[in-house]
Amino acid sequence: MPEAALPSASRPTRILDARGDGAAALEAARIIAAGGLVAFPTETVYGLGADAGNPRAVAAVYAAKGRPAFNPLIAHLPDLAAAMALGDFSQAARRLGTAFWPGPLTLVVPCRDMAAVCDLARAGLDTVALRVPDHAAARAFLEAAARPVVGPSANRSGHVSPTLAEHVAADLTGRIDVILDGGATPVGVESTIVDCTGPHPTLLRPGGIPRAALEDVLGHALPDAAADDDAERPQSPGRLASHYAPNAAVRLDADEVRPGEALLTFAGHRPPGTETAAIVFDLSPSGSLEEAAANLYAALRQLDAAGAEAIAVAPLPHEGLGEAIADRLGRAAAPRPLVPQGD
Ligand code: TXA
Ligand code: MG
Repeated sequence: MPEAALPSASRPTRILDARGDGAAALEAARIIAAGGLVAFPTETVYGLGADAGNPRAVAAVYAAKGRPAFNPLIAHLPDLAAAMALGDFSQAARRLGTAFWPGPLTLVVPCRDMAAVCDLARAGLDTVALRVPDHAAARAFLEAAARPVVGPSANRSGHVSPTLAEHVAADLTGRIDVILDGGATPVGVESTIVDCTGPHPTLLRPGGIPRAALEDVLGHALPDAAADDDAERPQSPGRLASHYAPNAAVRLDADEVRPGEALLTFAGHRPPGTETAAIVFDLSPSGSLEEAAANLYAALRQLDAAGAEAIAVAPLPHEGLGEAIADRLGRAAAPRPLVPQGD
């Protein structure tokens, strides 16, 4: 049972197979209702779930991740109707939710139920980030929980997002109550986040739904959100500084592999020096950006685990899911903050 009195590093963590009957979902929902922490698979990455309306449980999420409390969390719902009960949906927001949910899209909208998603989960904002994941185990869990469930990626803040239950276990064992094991997450990069609080939607974070697909549904361009100028209270703190970071230094758009570097590449590309590379990981030998996204975080973990001190990243296309991949690699390559700032 979750015990708020326990220091966060001493919770026994159970792993439940979420691919069988609904028993794991029911048990996970019971833990959520009791204020506990449950990591759950989604189509993008694993999330760290807690009752969005329970400030103590939400505080435990921030503590387990080591995440700064000024970085708000996404509330996860089983369907569009449940999401619409929590926020004010503009016409554009409704159109996007209808077209892409369930799916790897998060919509930021004005919050209309401040109790169901508590202040701490929203980091004090009067807006709320909502998402309906497209994953059978997530849906069963969310339906059983019958309340909004916060779900930041289930990694220690500043680490690479988890795409396997084993990744969650490596980061959070002893800090959370349950890990629902649903196997590998199929999309592999986080959801696209669209800000629908203004007159026109803007893109806060590229992700699993390509920008062009959103623009098709909107019928017009989806510009980037204006750059944050208030570092203390950023509009989308997830866009801050370095996170999604492996231990190794990352060098982007490498047209050669330098001595001692590992190589992260795509579509069979082998730049000069590849033969000296400590290890080579091709994100998709066949050149599929979907496959590359699905493999990205496991590749960064694998290169780290192999002891690579530096990773040369060959150029990748930026269209479609390539925009999200480039975004995450850019963050991985950014200078590291002294204190984790990330997701
Ligand atoms: O795919 C995903 O989105 C995964 C899975 C587990 O659902 N979740 C995820 O959560 O990536 P997280 O916490 O790692 O990233 C959520 C991002 C953060 O960058 C946060 O700043 C932003 O969403 N966010 C949350 N609420 C917001 C709000 N009200 N306004 C602007 N940005 C918000
Ligand atoms: Mg994250």
